[in-house]
Amino acid sequence: MMREFWEQRYGEDALAYGEQPNVFLTGQTRYLQPGMRVLAVGDGQGRNGVWLAQHGLDVLSVDYAQTGLDRARALAEMRGVSIATFCVDLFTWDWPREQFDAVVAIFVHFSPEQRARMHQSMLAACKPGGVVIMEAFRLEQLEYQQRYHSGGPPAAALLYAQDMLAQDFREAEMLMLEDAETELSEGPYHSGKAAVVRLLARRMG
Ligand SMILES: C[S@@+](CC[C@H](N)C(=O)[O-])C[C@H]1O[C@@H](n2cnc3c(N)ncnc32)[C@H](O)[C@@H]1O
Repeated sequence: MMREFWEQRYGEDALAYGEQPNVFLTGQTRYLQPGMRVLAVGDGQGRNGVWLAQHGLDVLSVDYAQTGLDRARALAEMRGVSIATFCVDLFTWDWPREQFDAVVAIFVHFSPEQRARMHQSMLAACKPGGVVIMEAFRLEQLEYQQRYHSGGPPAAALLYAQDMLAQDFREAEMLMLEDAETELSEGPYHSGKAAVVRLLARRMG
């Protein structure tokens, strides 16, 4: 999906994925201690980045949709915290290396041509011992979209599976790689029963 698609979605009145953080992310606080540096990849309107900042982390939110990042900063201000934002296309970004204690990617889907490189860049952005935290829709979501209208990319090529992620993160210590069926209640575009894959991958030192 193209940048213009997201710009348009983020220009709508309601926050596309709501104000509350992703539920899987909120369960990972053992990897998200106050004072840590965290990169929120494809952070959109900032619900996850802002939640991380509220928990005392030093947050850099990156996305190529400026409209989303503007809303993210407004949400941060409303909550009395600050986040750094950077508007960049992840495909052409000169990714930082060994800078972050955690990299968070929630429902950020890449095409098959870009996916492995993006995931490897996330891992390389972690300091040794740092952790990539990811939740994404898996292939079965195509069926769930029809049945439950719960969102996600409408194309098989943009959906993930455990074996792809195992391959992309083969250099990491895999702390978790599992399928789940979840009940999303994350704004108008992510609502209802959904098929997801969850990953926690630690960069080795
Ligand atoms: C489904 S939204 C998820 C937003 C956010 N992570 C959340 O959970 O609320 C996917 C996000 O990835 C961003 N994105 C996709 N491809 C990107 C790219 N190549 N460069 C930067 N951002 C990208 C989109 O702009 C969008 O904000």
